[in-house]
Amino acid sequence: MMPAASKTKSVTRPFPKPGKSATQATKPDTRLLDAEQFLLPTYKRQPVVMTHGRGAYVYDASGKKYLDFLGGIAVNALGHAHPRIVKVIRREAARAIHLSNLYHNAFQGPLARKLAGWSGLDRAFFSNSGTEAIDGAMKLARLYGRQPDEPAGTAAKKQRFLADLESKFDDTVCAILLEAIQGEGGIYPVSEAFWNRARELATKHDALLIADEIQCGLGRTGRYFGYQKFSSKPDIVLVAKPLAAGLPLGAILTTEAVASRVSPGMHGTTFGGGPLACAVALEFLSVVEGQELLENVRVRGTELREGLAKLAAKFGFIREIRGEGLMIGVELTVEGAPFVAEAMRRGLLINCTHDFTLRLLPPFIITRAQVREFLRLLELVLAATSRQAAAPVSGKFANPQRVARAAAR
Ligand SMILES: Cc1ncc(COP(=O)(O)O)c(C=O)c1O
Repeated sequence: MMPAASKTKSVTRPFPKPGKSATQATKPDTRLLDAEQFLLPTYKRQPVVMTHGRGAYVYDASGKKYLDFLGGIAVNALGHAHPRIVKVIRREAARAIHLSNLYHNAFQGPLARKLAGWSGLDRAFFSNSGTEAIDGAMKLARLYGRQPDEPAGTAAKKQRFLADLESKFDDTVCAILLEAIQGEGGIYPVSEAFWNRARELATKHDALLIADEIQCGLGRTGRYFGYQKFSSKPDIVLVAKPLAAGLPLGAILTTEAVASRVSPGMHGTTFGGGPLACAVALEFLSVVEGQELLENVRVRGTELREGLAKLAAKFGFIREIRGEGLMIGVELTVEGAPFVAEAMRRGLLINCTHDFTLRLLPPFIITRAQVREFLRLLELVLAATSRQAAAPVSGKFANPQRVARAAAR
């Protein structure tokens, strides 16, 4: 006989019946109320509870479906519930989620080997996140910049903010950190001339060139790494976001020359490089290598940019389209937030960086039909939002200061 407790029905239904629209909801979702009351107010979240995803679509608690062109901010490169990823998670979760870095696990070594092959570098350190990878890279740069007889705590070289590459680069600089395409910064690609000069200056001053590939790396541009369009290599490459298909995992990849300065006890982490995350990362890299996925990133990216160029010809407030592969920025002459909100109302997830740039980071698996669906939805969003802006009522676009700010850019 079943125990009595197991007969009790759950009061909250995590996956409500599809088709029930948000507007039919009579009571506010208690999960939203809890979040409002108990979380630190660090994010301006949309008032919606997302529950699950399938491929390039995400569903909220009311069953509403969204085409996901944000991909968890460049994390869900294989979309949601990818069968190969789900299979590895199920298998490995039942074996060992965590073991500690005091022992080897079956996946760290092979994953480091694979990433060395992709990047052309030699060694890897696994972290939990992009920030932790950057943190470790700063440590490596200071270590590398230290004179051999100088104690570790008093390293003379300092990381500086390089406002002007040429004038600021001298022997006190131990590293320059660049994104081949700036993500949060508004989808701005670094020019070949800037990259080459950074490489030359780093070499000349015995400093390190660090490529932050956390957002633009691991296939997003249609190449393994964003910097691979340039002829020279960095000394350190940082990856995270899509590496373990949504599980937290980052990595520092570096050369033998840098790695030779490291010895046991200098750096560590509790969670980074656990067996489950590394097994999933190996599967992610293997999926990206096969199935002509990078070709799909390039082809879909071209289709998207062509479609966006047609929309730019129609809507004068589209200022510029930037990016590569499936990392695309659509800069507007007006603020992007109302477009993001309207997109959400119409079942499309995008976001906005630097106030004016709509950011598109769809999964690598998107199809031609989904690109068409996106362009159709975006056209409706652009038309509806600009109509609202033109209406002589109060609203964001009616605010003369905002309009002036936009026009001044
Ligand atoms: C280019 C880049 N570097 C570093 C980070 C920080 O990574 P994490 O959020 O995993 O700490 C991000 C996150 O958005 C990023 O886009």
